[in-house]
Amino acid sequence: MTWLITGGAGYIGAHVVRAMAEAGEETVVYDDLSTGNAERVPDGVPLVVGSTLDGERLARVLADHRVTGVVHLAAKKQVAESVGLPLHYYRQNVEGLRVLLEAVTAAGVPTFVFSSSAAVYGMPDAAADGLVTEETPCAPMSPYGETKLAGEWLVRATGRAAGLSTASLRYFNVAGAARPELADAGVSNLVPMVFEKLTQNAPPRIFGDDYPTPDGTCVRDYIHVVDLAEAHVAAARALRASPGRDLTLNIGRGEGVSVREMIDRINALTGHHRPPTVTARRPGDPPRVVASADRAAAELGWKARHDVQDMITSAWEGWVRLHPEAARG
Ligand code: WQD
Repeated sequence: MTWLITGGAGYIGAHVVRAMAEAGEETVVYDDLSTGNAERVPDGVPLVVGSTLDGERLARVLADHRVTGVVHLAAKKQVAESVGLPLHYYRQNVEGLRVLLEAVTAAGVPTFVFSSSAAVYGMPDAAADGLVTEETPCAPMSPYGETKLAGEWLVRATGRAAGLSTASLRYFNVAGAARPELADAGVSNLVPMVFEKLTQNAPPRIFGDDYPTPDGTCVRDYIHVVDLAEAHVAAARALRASPGRDLTLNIGRGEGVSVREMIDRINALTGHHRPPTVTARRPGDPPRVVASADRAAAELGWKARHDVQDMITSAWEGWVRLHPEAARG
């Protein structure tokens, strides 16, 4: 059985490829290298450079490599950018997915795992325990989140119509790295943004400390990319074992950590000890987004193993590899 991993040269995709290999699964990577890096693809794993908008190339790859399952991560993922470029995001994330699903169904590939996001919930109206379940109403607040929700619909509808087994994995806040070379090179989320400030000998920023949360800063559910990658393997295997499945799962740890707590931990771990400054709220940030991880545990027998300390330590090793001056702080 061979899994096609679209976006497999990206930060999360490369971790999925690695986890698949560790689990003894064959993979082939399909990536347009717009943000991915060929060096992240391990020796022995074929890399096909192509766009998900290129149906002919996809059809050829599915046939040439006798692909029997797809894990689809290739997408644009920057919330703020999506606000200015909605057409681009819909084309890449929704049209790209539609073209891929057309090739997948034509080739008779029976299993499909889709990379979704907690961004589908928008400003979630959590249950009494403060956790977001998969039944929490979806109300995305950005074109990015909309494309992920539309993607879930497209995947589910195609699964039903064509007899595909499908899973949509809603990632919460991903951080960390399996190895320094696999770390996230982007600087668009809290952990790397704090690293960047510390490297510049500047104070990390807290975007608002007047939220209705215990310390006034936003609370999120951080998940180690290694755990997230293992959830993909578990989902892929669950689909293979029981055709006709249709899963929608939160992939988080069920533990809320505030922005201030994250910055304190990063300061302590990196030895920079630079107190943060509080700036204005960032528009659109929900006060609290923490997953109920129960369904993933029940359906997949999967549970996160790594804590925030592991995430920060491994992310920092990756950061220092790319920014050696950071270690001097
Ligand atoms: C986390 C918290 C910021 C930087 C986004 C997407 C989500 C998913 C993950 C893709 C927020 C605060 C940040 C800084 C800060 N992506 N912050 N100072 O917004 O929770 O989630 O990325 O699927 O869908 O929406 O993540 O890391 O940007 O921010 O105070 O320098 O940290 O305001 O409260 P977010 P983030």
